[in-house]
Amino acid sequence: MKQHRMRLIEQNQPAPGIMRMIFKAPDLARNSRPGQFVQIRVTDTFDPLLRRPFSIHRTHSNGTIEILYRIVGRGTRLMSRTRPGVRLDGMGPLGNPFQTEGNFSTALVVAGGMGSAPAFMLIDTLLKTGKSIHFFWGVRCDDEFFHLEWLRSSGVELHLACERGDTGHQGLITDILEPMMNRYPDSKGFVCGPKPMLEKMQRMIRTFPIPWEVSLEEKMACGVGVCMGCAVRVGQKIQMVCSDGPVFDLREVDFGS
Ligand SMILES: Cc1cc2nc3c(=O)[nH]c(=O)nc-3n(C[C@H](O)[C@H](O)[C@H](O)COP(=O)(O)OP(=O)(O)OC[C@H]3O[C@@H](n4cnc5c(N)ncnc54)[C@H](O)[C@@H]3O)c2cc1C
Ligand code: FES
Repeated sequence: MKQHRMRLIEQNQPAPGIMRMIFKAPDLARNSRPGQFVQIRVTDTFDPLLRRPFSIHRTHSNGTIEILYRIVGRGTRLMSRTRPGVRLDGMGPLGNPFQTEGNFSTALVVAGGMGSAPAFMLIDTLLKTGKSIHFFWGVRCDDEFFHLEWLRSSGVELHLACERGDTGHQGLITDILEPMMNRYPDSKGFVCGPKPMLEKMQRMIRTFPIPWEVSLEEKMACGVGVCMGCAVRVGQKIQMVCSDGPVFDLREVDFGS
């Protein structure tokens, strides 16, 4: 983990309400793995004081990294006003990545909402392993889908669901995943998304004996396992999402419900 002066190359909006930042940060791009995140100081001042955590959405061989985010509060609003050329301070890569190697032939990648941020780097990495990839992607409104053509042309099998709109299944992504799960015995699952979706996934996989990794989000301060601000119970232990995770065994996570 290192501190990086990340130069903003471009900021755009791939879908309504969703922002993408492209930074030049060669060292970070080279060393990041899917599921890891970066703690960003959202302005080039110390206000706000605390960094904000963002999954690494994609990395490229030209030394750039992408962050995908939704504006939800002051920090992300300030971040959305950053102009190209500005350098923001990023600490990373942080956390433990998804385990994409292993003895499975099919990857089931399940993303809801901003879970698409880590899912794309995961898919980029899985594509290099030659495994077959099924991407189950759920959003609220179908204008939040992006890069669908690229996904299809890369050979990713797409399963889409939206609560409003005409693209894919009308409803939750878990509705279409549940009846299909037994079709992929030689597979491994990866899931990222909002807590209610993760809890539902945990119930659904009880009778489906493949490994499932989950990427968790908790409010964070230090980002490096010191402040205990992001503690969760996983199995018999209290773990820090920032330093022990954010990737955990989905079956082991205690969602407290
Ligand atoms: C490991 C990790 C990876 C993340 N990756 C992404 C990502 O790729 N894209 C993205 O848009 N967001 C991501 N988040 C959430 C992101 O960090 C928060 O949305 C951001 O910090 C909010 O900052 P703010 O100042 O705009 O909002 P604040 O004013 O701090 O909060 C606004 C709202 O967002 C909620 N919130 C704040 N922090 C978090 C958090 N850590 N997790 C969930 N909800 C939060 C608050 O409860 C509040 O409702 C990630 C969080 C973690 C822990
Ligand atoms: S944010 Fe401080 S321990 Fe995780």
